[in-house]
Amino acid sequence: MKVRVDSERCQGHTLCAMIAPEVFELRDVDGHSRVVREDVPPDREAQVVEAVNSCPERAISVD
Ligand code: F3S
Repeated sequence: MKVRVDSERCQGHTLCAMIAPEVFELRDVDGHSRVVREDVPPDREAQVVEAVNSCPERAISVD
């Protein structure tokens, strides 16, 4: 699984980083999310799916 955050859509709701802190972190500059592990390990896939479904801006996508 690969994951991306659309920085145009992200509004810094923080849910992704709370749900999967090994995959997402919030940038100091604007509080928006960035992906720190683009290739998601299998044991983190469920968390990433939860993050996708939790983001109010639909800013996270996976392949
Ligand atoms: Fe941004 Fe959505 Fe996370 S708005 S901070 S990608 S929960």
